Amino acid sequence: MNPLKSTIQSQPTLFFIFGGTGDLTSRKLLPALYNLYLDGWMPENFAVIGLGRTEMTEEQYREKLMEDIGKYSRTGKADLEKWKSFSANLFIHQVEFTEDRTYSEIAERIEKQKLEWKVEPNLVYYLAVAPRFFTTISENLAKHKLAVDPGKSRIVIEKPFGRDLESSKELNQLLNGMFSEKQIYRIDHYLGKETVQNILAFRFANSILEPLWNRNYIEHVQISVTEQLGVGERGGYYDQAGALRDMVQNHVLQLLCLIAMEPPISFNADEVRNRKVDVLRAMRKFTSEEAQRHAVRGQYSKGWLEGKEVVGYREEPSVNQDSNTETFAAFKFFVDNWRWQGVPFYLRTGKRMPSSSSIISVQFKDVPHMIFPSEAMEGWQQNRLIISIQPEMSIRLQVQAKRPGLEMMLNPVDLVFDYQGAYTEATPEAYETLLLDIMLGDQTLFMRGDQVEAAWDLLMPILSSWSNKRSLSFPNYSADSWGPELAEALIARDGFHWFTVPINGKR
Ligand code: BG6
Repeated sequence: MNPLKSTIQSQPTLFFIFGGTGDLTSRKLLPALYNLYLDGWMPENFAVIGLGRTEMTEEQYREKLMEDIGKYSRTGKADLEKWKSFSANLFIHQVEFTEDRTYSEIAERIEKQKLEWKVEPNLVYYLAVAPRFFTTISENLAKHKLAVDPGKSRIVIEKPFGRDLESSKELNQLLNGMFSEKQIYRIDHYLGKETVQNILAFRFANSILEPLWNRNYIEHVQISVTEQLGVGERGGYYDQAGALRDMVQNHVLQLLCLIAMEPPISFNADEVRNRKVDVLRAMRKFTSEEAQRHAVRGQYSKGWLEGKEVVGYREEPSVNQDSNTETFAAFKFFVDNWRWQGVPFYLRTGKRMPSSSSIISVQFKDVPHMIFPSEAMEGWQQNRLIISIQPEMSIRLQVQAKRPGLEMMLNPVDLVFDYQGAYTEATPEAYETLLLDIMLGDQTLFMRGDQVEAAWDLLMPILSSWSNKRSLSFPNYSADSWGPELAEALIARDGFHWFTVPINGKR
């Protein structure tokens, strides 16, 4: 058997999910645990205890989660036999996160399980709750001595990790005062995505890229994370956050780090994370004047998406009718170090865009001397490496080739590595990878405290400039467009344009 599988199977684990009746548990956590179970990646002895305020019997809880699996799991409806054996390990506790009683009950539960399993279990405390509960839950875990062994107990925190530099520092101080950094797992689910993990493999398991991966050969980099979805039911949260806090501070900057980082000396969690922090620290911080020139914000108005009329952001439920919150953000950043000096990194993310896709495009410099006549080069395109994170999962290297025929005509073609064509294995969901890593105690794909702070630090001038000054042009892009015109101008000024994914195979 795979040695990692036998390691995991022999580690009895108790999961306490704060927010066990919430949305994240239904959509992501339970389907992920169930799929790990199906594939033999769960401990032989485990129990998942959902902690929440909703009153429900164990039977109702299990039934509800089975329905959720049918709706949200990549493997579809649960197989009845398998579900029966898996769900025998699911429990619910109706609790108040602020009450002492909750934590004494957790202690009792641990004791009971210890007696039954005859061994000290690993403990995972998953905080799938609104940030206002982070402090009280973690303080109570510490007060009741529920996470004293750093080797055996882990605390998992979902984003948002603070809402600015100061609040993230406060949260880090609080957590680090009570627990060891080794126990704290700050989730950025993008890091669990298969294609995102592959960036590390692609860059550091191949020797051909490294000599080209620098300012001498790369002209610019684009990272674009666009979504068709609007804010849906999350208006209350989103209106306090906006694209910068919701997507850029975490997911988008993490992608940039993976592209720009130096090779770590090993695949050890801290070595990898050290190199990523280096990137964030090397990024040029804007003055508020530069923020005007290098950062663009947008907010969507109503429009038509796939034949359906959709409302504007300010008309979404729980959103302030006069909201100044951005649903789109674009930037031109620089990484000031030897490798990247002078290479622009263009970033954009937005909701209600024509298509949902996350892509990184690395454009190489043009050939130094052109030997072909201009007629041969009608479709000329500089070499480009396109890493598609989702929905397409591929890496394409765009090169020039001679078109078949009697004349010398050049056009761009793609050398493609496509997951679908290359592998038959199913791709695990990000949360499967992350939950498994938590059980294994591997922090490589989790955010360290200093990483989170470095990302906030970089964005603070933009955050303050945007919150101090209302945008007079909001809403400034319609649903189904690629964002405000200024975002086009941001990149067009330098002679480039945003790379968009081919829709239906057409570029
Ligand atoms: C979340 C954001 O972290 O990521 C959401 O809060 C966003 O606003 C989501 O929609 C995007 O994740 P994915 O995996 O669908 O690209």
